[in-house]
Amino acid sequence: MPTLLVLLMVSSVFTADPSAATEEFGIDEKAVSYSGFQVWSITVRSNGEHKLLRQIIEQYDVEVWKEQKTDKAAITELLVAPQVQRVLKVKLTEADISYGIKINDLHTVIENGNAKHNTSSLNTKTGHSMDWTKYHRLADIYGYLNYLASTYPSRVELINIGTSYEKRPLYVVRIFNRSSSVVKPAVWIDGGIHAREWISPALATYIIRQLVEVPANEALLCNVDWFIMPVMNPDGYEYSHAFNRLWRKTRSVTSWTSCRGVDPNRNFGYKWGGLGTSTNPCSDVYKGTRAFSEPETFATSNFIKGKASSIKLYLTLHSYGQAALIPWGYNVVYPSDYSDMLELAKSAVSKFTKYRYRVGNAAAIYYPAAGGSDDWAKSIGIKYSYTFELSDTGAYGFLLPASNILPVCQDFFPALDVFAAKVATMKV
Ligand SMILES: *[C@@H]1O[C@H](CO)[C@@H](O)[C@H](O)[C@H]1NC(C)=O
Ligand SMILES: *[C@@H]1O[C@H](CO)[C@@H](O)[C@H](O)[C@H]1NC(C)=O
Ligand SMILES: [Zn+2]
Repeated sequence: MPTLLVLLMVSSVFTADPSAATEEFGIDEKAVSYSGFQVWSITVRSNGEHKLLRQIIEQYDVEVWKEQKTDKAAITELLVAPQVQRVLKVKLTEADISYGIKINDLHTVIENGNAKHNTSSLNTKTGHSMDWTKYHRLADIYGYLNYLASTYPSRVELINIGTSYEKRPLYVVRIFNRSSSVVKPAVWIDGGIHAREWISPALATYIIRQLVEVPANEALLCNVDWFIMPVMNPDGYEYSHAFNRLWRKTRSVTSWTSCRGVDPNRNFGYKWGGLGTSTNPCSDVYKGTRAFSEPETFATSNFIKGKASSIKLYLTLHSYGQAALIPWGYNVVYPSDYSDMLELAKSAVSKFTKYRYRVGNAAAIYYPAAGGSDDWAKSIGIKYSYTFELSDTGAYGFLLPASNILPVCQDFFPALDVFAAKVATMKV
């Protein structure tokens, strides 16, 4: 959608710290405003209606936020720019397709979605700036990881596995019992593959905190090691804070100069370039020029491959939708041990008391998408591989307000008991 993006760059309301932003990215860059943008939810009940909707989406270059299937209908959530709202209304009415407006003005929701910055008081009390009442910038997150590594050396190792396109470090936190010499089976968790899904790094850092700083959770380290990468796509994450709240991809320069970034979750090297991917650098699902073209997916996959004999469970955190997704995602195809994977996922989500999750095959619940990290992890022999789409189910979508961070994290954490118990039984 080159035209849309170019239009979006014109007007701006800047909320993040502008001095930090301009230093890093150059003074020409302006924040994207979503004033007047809406999110519509459209339900179609037949193949004919679905086809019509696809035509309308393509003709008006509308961005699909989410597309999910139920037994009787397909629900599509769309980001609708102000200039196409009137014509879309006419087209849908003509086609007799019903729609509802889920978010009336994106700008307002973005403005109210994050708590205001005030970390100076935290910093002096705790030695770091991290908490779970707001979505933090990368400096706070990385500051916290460094704080943990120096404060809890018997439990924490901070591993720098490479650098992002814009030269930010890529960190994996290993949480383990350093005085134990036994090689243990391990759980991998990553967050922040997609920049705008802010609840994902928030949960990943919460999990790190629980495992490292809460003595009651020490048992989780007895038989299992943890590798947690809270922000796999730090360039995109920072860009989503400073310039475009809805940025999804990496920030690498592509062959099309006005469209940057590759979808890291279409860039992993299994069935790369298949269904649900794009060759267009302006697309939000652009697959890149080759598998692992992005330094972020390259470094991550190399690290995981090096530990493939001990990592028994791969968990990647995304939003939104409240679903536990099981490979394969490249198409509606089921691994031979799918029932084992399904059983463990069901058992994990049964621990949730506040949020209800769907569990099932990724391509069947949503749509086929090749080059995902979960498929790749499964393909290299990690038996349990999952994508969790966190809250919500669409009321705010990617713009989940910060007041939801703690409820989401607290509800999620007990599921790790289930995963750890299973992984502890597996041979390294
Ligand atoms: C941040 O908190 C400190 C200490 O509580 C306070 O003195 C300061 O005014 C606050 N700053 C802002 C911008 O709210
Ligand atoms: C860590 O390992 C040591 C040596 O095996 C053991 O004595 C200790 O209890 C372990 N701590 C935890 C929390 O598992
Ligand atoms: Zn995602």
